[in-house]
Amino acid sequence: MSAGSCLLSIRSLFLLLLMLPGTVLAERIAIIGTGDVGSALGIEFAALGHDIVYGSRDPSRNEVKTLVERTGGTASATTQAKSVIDADIVVLAVPGSLAVAIVEGLGDMSGKIIIDPTNHYIRDGVPRLATETSNGESIQAAAPDAHVVKAFNTLSWRQMVDPDSSGGPVSIPLAGNSAEAKAKVAELVAGMGLEPVDVGPIRNARHVEGMLVLWIQARVNGDPFDYHLRKTDSQ
Ligand SMILES: NC(=O)c1ccc[n+]([C@@H]2O[C@H](COP(=O)([O-])OP(=O)(O)OC[C@H]3O[C@@H](n4cnc5c(N)ncnc54)[C@H](OP(=O)(O)O)[C@@H]3O)[C@@H](O)[C@H]2O)c1
Repeated sequence: MSAGSCLLSIRSLFLLLLMLPGTVLAERIAIIGTGDVGSALGIEFAALGHDIVYGSRDPSRNEVKTLVERTGGTASATTQAKSVIDADIVVLAVPGSLAVAIVEGLGDMSGKIIIDPTNHYIRDGVPRLATETSNGESIQAAAPDAHVVKAFNTLSWRQMVDPDSSGGPVSIPLAGNSAEAKAKVAELVAGMGLEPVDVGPIRNARHVEGMLVLWIQARVNGDPFDYHLRKTDSQ
């Protein structure tokens, strides 16, 4: 067999594998922050077959080592800046008040998908957003050549790992300017057993972040709910 036809058959085999049901194209996903949300999403994405690298302020901590073990597969941990270098997708699982500064410290984010689950709101008195726009929009402005997708901010980390604990389906609104990036994040969401809903450009992140304020307020009122947006056929 010639070298050319050998290469062709390797490529055909690869394409055939991709077409098999259940085959996952592994992405390298950097999870910045090893708290509740970072741990939940890291473990869930690893279970979907992706390579996880945690970016931590102190990757040598015992808690981080334990998290890497629990994540399994090819998971590893390093510093925040190193974790993003070869990553296709970066998850900002960090305090909302610090998210923009942390993105600014990550270096070149061109072409990467940034998943932004952060919430930045004021807790004293009536819960309200801390800024007039949103973290999603500010993160997109701080990394203009990245594709920011607002996602996972309107539910608890407990439902990320156990969607059935809500007693029914849970919607995950996705706001972002890149349809391709939203489609990739939608695959992750659906793989976790949650329901992705495209709610338009990153400008709408301010409304999605507002949804969390309502979610919190209902809990303060003693009348908690979880988001389930019923899809319809009509326009
Ligand atoms: N908790 C939830 O159920 C939930 C649900 C949806 C969305 N959210 C949002 O998702 C984000 C993460 O939530 P979380 O509950 O996981 O938060 P968290 O536990 O308070 O913190 C997340 C991680 O960020 C890193 N971090 C903390 N302080 C930092 C600093 N000064 N500089 C750099 N990194 C720092 C830490 O990881 P290292 O120590 O490894 O650096 C920390 O474990 C928040 O914006 C939150 O509003 C939370």
